[in-house]
Amino acid sequence: MPTNEERLDRLAQLRAEAMLGGGAVRIERQHAWGKLTARERLDLLLDPGSFVELDAFVTHRSVEFGLAEQRFLGDGVVTGHGTIDGRLVFVFSQDFTVFGGSLSETYAEKICKVMDLAMKVGAPVIGLNDSGGARIQEGVVSLGGYADIFLRNVLASGVVPQIIVIMGPCAGGAVYSPAITDFTVMVERTSYMFVTGPNVVKAVTHEEVDSEALGGALVHTSKSGVAHLAAHDEAEALDAVRRILAHLPQNNLERPASIESHDPVDRMDPELDHVVPDDAHRPYDMHDVIDRIVDDGAFLEIQPAWAQNIIIGFARLGGRSVGIVAQQPSVLAGALDIEASTKAARFVRTCDCFNVPLLTLVDVPGFLPGVGQEHGGIIKHGAKLLYAYCEATVPKVTVITRKAYGGAYDVMSSKHIRGDMNFAWPTAEIAVMGAEGAVNIIFKDAIADADDPTAERRRLVEEYEAEFANPYVAAARGYVDDVIRPLETRPRVIRAFEILADKRDTNPRKKHGNIPL
Ligand code: HXC
Repeated sequence: MPTNEERLDRLAQLRAEAMLGGGAVRIERQHAWGKLTARERLDLLLDPGSFVELDAFVTHRSVEFGLAEQRFLGDGVVTGHGTIDGRLVFVFSQDFTVFGGSLSETYAEKICKVMDLAMKVGAPVIGLNDSGGARIQEGVVSLGGYADIFLRNVLASGVVPQIIVIMGPCAGGAVYSPAITDFTVMVERTSYMFVTGPNVVKAVTHEEVDSEALGGALVHTSKSGVAHLAAHDEAEALDAVRRILAHLPQNNLERPASIESHDPVDRMDPELDHVVPDDAHRPYDMHDVIDRIVDDGAFLEIQPAWAQNIIIGFARLGGRSVGIVAQQPSVLAGALDIEASTKAARFVRTCDCFNVPLLTLVDVPGFLPGVGQEHGGIIKHGAKLLYAYCEATVPKVTVITRKAYGGAYDVMSSKHIRGDMNFAWPTAEIAVMGAEGAVNIIFKDAIADADDPTAERRRLVEEYEAEFANPYVAAARGYVDDVIRPLETRPRVIRAFEILADKRDTNPRKKHGNIPL
């Protein structure tokens, strides 16, 4: 019988062995690639000393392909819980030093265990991915393990926040777990995601492409919109997770935490009176508006490089988190196209399921015209944004800075679809379309019959602009609650969110809605 001392020694020895993952040589290789190990990443992500590991002694159960002789404590994924800014989170961190971080039956069980615990106690799940995919030696058992995780991703969706950081390979069906989660962060140059890799692509389509060009961080944050943020290095990626999490509650039954703001809630900004140019055709940068309204000018933009005609992200107003959706007039004149609609729709739904109030800043000339847009399904994609705003029950405050034309006026959190507090600046033009378009249609014959059609057209455009290109027609009907001076926007929206803080609104009971996809 071993003595107690010997038993303690054995525990210490096993713990030390588990710490080494796939061994010192593979750890060195990981470092040489410019990557941290699974444990080093957790150290950076979590509050110091807060990590508590679970299942460190788990090993795989396989015997085929000589695996019986190759067992590593923890089996390629480090799981457990810790805190971020003092808040409980559950984590899994894939360990590339053990079988390339590939997923086995027991590895999947470990991830499912922390996900189940997170759901029971209502806490976020954060996954750090670095994996060669299904553990080839385990075959279909590994596929089952993935499916067990996918199911939990879906069941946890809208209940607890889920964030994934891609820190190495993520290929094949494995990509669908990050795709389902709320936010995906990628590390530039060392991470990639694709359903089929460069070799398969070459065999099937004869396209020559490397991993980075096929599915690197820049591709997924600027072309595909699959990922939300790209970071220069791993530390920056993990910091991004902490910053996103700061705006989210622990679960769907809670609100995001408020913090004390030192930016005065009654701060006016005279510069805002001059942001919108006198010439309605000239662009301006909506970031200037956002930065001048929010606490300390601090805006955490999400998907900044994709669908730049719409801006989404988190900020604070009087210390409270808000999600911001805003047109960007300097890109495509802020028109809503397929990608912008999809980007904003997902964000509106993310905010709504986690009780983050929505501030919408509107300057939209309409949906983007074009054969490409129509054939690409702008009708159904635009409908996603309409659907998302309609179903959202969080406090919704809208400010129309300039154009709000046509269907896009309705879509952008208008009063008619349960906008709670809708303001317009004096520069707002709320109408069915721009003056030129309207005059061309309704005065077609009058212009053609005029002695000087050009002069008549100009006169009619000016008349239409004077009469309809303003906020007062809508204000007369109560479609906007007030026309405010731009400089007073911050105090007015903060006040609006304050009075809406205890808002209660519900949707009809149903199994789930049928959002156009
Ligand atoms: C078992 C694996 C593995 C895997 C890598 N390894 N991938 N072991 N199953 N899927 C092991 C290697 O044998 C090696 O072991 C170590 O991990 C590191 O791999 P290397 O190839 O030396 O590293 P690198 O050159 O960086 O290449 C990384 C890689 C490559 C690009 C990920 O290993 C690779 O292509 N792996 C296979 C990827 C794949 O086809 N996976 C299955 C996809 S299907 P040693 O002992 O030398 O350290 C899939 C379906 C998911 O995932 C379905 C979900 C529904």
